[in-house]
Amino acid sequence: MAPIPTSTAGPVDDHRIPVQDAVMAAAAGERSVVEGDGLFALKNSTSVVTGGARGIGLTLAAALVEAGSHVVCLDLLDEPSSEPDWLMFKARAKELGLTARYVQADITDALQINTVVSEIADEAASLGRPLNTMLHAAGVQKPGTVFDCDPAHFDWVMRVNVTGTFIVTQAAARAMRKHKSGGSIILIASMSGYISNRGLYCTAYNSSKAAVHQLCRSTAVELAEHNVRVNTISPGYVNTKMVEQLLQKEPALLGQWTNDNPMHRIGEPSEFKGAAVFLASGASSFMTGADLRMDGGHCAW
Ligand SMILES: NC(=O)c1ccc[n+]([C@@H]2O[C@H](COP(=O)([O-])OP(=O)(O)OC[C@H]3O[C@@H](n4cnc5c(N)ncnc54)[C@H](O)[C@@H]3O)[C@@H](O)[C@H]2O)c1
Repeated sequence: MAPIPTSTAGPVDDHRIPVQDAVMAAAAGERSVVEGDGLFALKNSTSVVTGGARGIGLTLAAALVEAGSHVVCLDLLDEPSSEPDWLMFKARAKELGLTARYVQADITDALQINTVVSEIADEAASLGRPLNTMLHAAGVQKPGTVFDCDPAHFDWVMRVNVTGTFIVTQAAARAMRKHKSGGSIILIASMSGYISNRGLYCTAYNSSKAAVHQLCRSTAVELAEHNVRVNTISPGYVNTKMVEQLLQKEPALLGQWTNDNPMHRIGEPSEFKGAAVFLASGASSFMTGADLRMDGGHCAW
């Protein structure tokens, strides 16, 4: 029987979507799932990770290094985490013969982010390891009720979490189109883009994360013809500084949150490493405009 064609687009169709050889090979099952240069490998590529100074961003930066990618972490903080995490990340990259560096940058500053990402992509392309992954984890959370949330506070959360996400996506898309490298843009959204958190009033944050889900779908459609995929990961509660700061103000929330999911615990940043590598690699070659909700079953309950 003749093979079923995988595309209806012919050679004379201007709308034909280019597909990287590597991705084609992955889709054809020519790469092993487990070997070093297999389906999940990110060899000869560069990744940029925003929010990469600490927390989920830094942990996922380590995952990308372990999969073989050179990584540049961007964050607003002057320096990355003073905890051992950053030093361990650098040491792991060195051990694997990869580069890992830090650049201080504000994701709400479009000029700065476009300049930084474009310089990273130009250098990466010249070294034969193109910018193929943008993992965007920078974000802010500040609770506030309908009655007392200052509109300026609402604007700030939307500016960082929505406009900042757009700026980062735009900069990555421009660089990937310029170098014709294709790529994967991974946006860290939240289960709070679907639900309202029990015990924590944060309309601004929840609205911003719902907007990230839609930003993903819209940009994914637009960028498919440039071989750039866009997907989100939506974590439930995760043990990071963001959550620690909320719990310092209201310690009782931990009991609420752990009992809000059937696993009766909150997550650890390392539990998202597999998802990040899956979305960055050829293993997810037919996935775009989609969300991976990883919340310990919170939204299923
Ligand atoms: N921790 C959770 O429970 C949880 C749950 C769902 C989603 N998330 C999302 O995961 C992402 C990472 O959060 P985290 O939990 O690791 O928190 P975190 O506070 O430890 O990390 C967020 C990082 O973003 C950086 N950042 C903030 N504003 C920035 C800006 N304007 N420019 C550049 N960097 C900026 C911060 O400096 C910080 O390093 C966020 O988008 C957050 O909304 C977290």
